Amino acid sequence: MKHFLKSTDLKDCEVEKVFSLSQQFKKTRGEGGLSVLGNQSWGMIFFKTSTRTRISFRVGIQELGGHPVHINQDEIQLSRGESIEDTARVLSRYLHGLVIRCYEHTLLEQFASHGSIPVVNALSDFLHPCQVYSDAFTLLERWSDGKRFLDALKGRKIAFFGDAASNMANSWVLGGSLFGMEVALAGPGQYAPGPEIEAVLKSSGYAPTYTFHTDPMEAAENADVIYTYVWVSMCKENEASDRLDIMSPYQVNASIMARAKPEALFMHCLPAHPGFEVTQEVMDSRASIVFDQAENRLHTQKAILAMLAETNKH
Ligand code: CP
Repeated sequence: MKHFLKSTDLKDCEVEKVFSLSQQFKKTRGEGGLSVLGNQSWGMIFFKTSTRTRISFRVGIQELGGHPVHINQDEIQLSRGESIEDTARVLSRYLHGLVIRCYEHTLLEQFASHGSIPVVNALSDFLHPCQVYSDAFTLLERWSDGKRFLDALKGRKIAFFGDAASNMANSWVLGGSLFGMEVALAGPGQYAPGPEIEAVLKSSGYAPTYTFHTDPMEAAENADVIYTYVWVSMCKENEASDRLDIMSPYQVNASIMARAKPEALFMHCLPAHPGFEVTQEVMDSRASIVFDQAENRLHTQKAILAMLAETNKH
């Protein structure tokens, strides 16, 4: 059974296919007639809040001819102690796939190993692979110019600012290696990438393409993309006051943008907190492509679902 728990779960040819399907789905949206998930029912369990991921998956499943089934975690017996193993086995008897947003990444792995249906990671504390694919597709819309998709990303530099040990930073560590991009992570020393992401990278067989910098200007130098992410993510609320102080030198502002390439793009997976990780000026600038990123969640996730449905048929 093929799952999508981390970016490197797809092979190069599957990555190309996801980008090509994303392009096709975006171009033909609204024309109808898609039955890729023909009458399949896909469960959605969100243990954390979500706007983009929740709605784009729900709409995407419907547009592919499937039925999204919202599963409220408080209303199922998992919340009263039924095991993940049994829950995964039972849900596999009703559903054709599961989209899960959760805290511990191991929960996704347990659902995947005990169930018999594909599991898609809609964000865990460790990784957010749907976001990084959507981000890469958003860049390809500007850069591909008829080239093979992975060739268009190869050698480009993305500089990531803030918590370099976060799920988004981890996702770019893996994404950078998968897409052949240089990833410069900039953040306070205590938020450097951890051994867990190194271990995943090693076991995936990809060479690291990332560097870690405590000097934000050094990371921004010559970047094609400047990326940032919330300083206090959903599992870190108890560290809020310390984080806001220590992250402030890593705010994306006009000076950071000026150090990147003149045509550099600004990205943020949203929700944004202007005045903290990014200035309103940068959010509203011509360089900002944050709402294209948000829109493309729909198209790339449809492509990922279609690819999983096709692969798991065989
Ligand atoms: N970027 C992202 O995952 O947004 P949501 O938390 O709103 O789903």
